[in-house]
Amino acid sequence: MGHSSDFDPAEAARLALEHSHQEGALLPILHALQGRFGWIAPEAVAWVAERLNLSRAEVHGVVSFYHDFRDHPAGRQVIKVCQAEACQARGARHVTAQLEERLGVKLGQTAPDRSLTLEPVYCLGLCGNGPAALVDGRPYADLSGRGLARCLKGVGR
Ligand code: FES
Repeated sequence: MGHSSDFDPAEAARLALEHSHQEGALLPILHALQGRFGWIAPEAVAWVAERLNLSRAEVHGVVSFYHDFRDHPAGRQVIKVCQAEACQARGARHVTAQLEERLGVKLGQTAPDRSLTLEPVYCLGLCGNGPAALVDGRPYADLSGRGLARCLKGVGR
């Protein structure tokens, strides 16, 4: 999933063709592009806008509205830390600050060397054991306690 590659119009055209017959093709096309390239590059936004006869601002608005879409390529590792209410009540804010400090990346950002991305997520279904996070899809809980060290070990830092 953390995989990113350069936008390729020919490949995008092939993916779009599979979806363009659908009503409301914008979301399926964006999902296909995100799945294939790992993010929605500015060239992809322009390309989709032209193809669907929308403005770039409209397409960009959709990309930034949905958490599913990235407008930057992700790092090789993706750490998602829960910011939803139950985890907040268990100290997610403090844990997030600790992760930011230990990883050297702010929430919502990717390290300049693209080694990792730290991003918010809203409930992982681990509320009873929060604060919780995912490292490349592997769950870590109890981050206010022992879980933090385990999680950082999972990140390799
Ligand atoms: S609120 Fe964080 S896992 Fe549910």
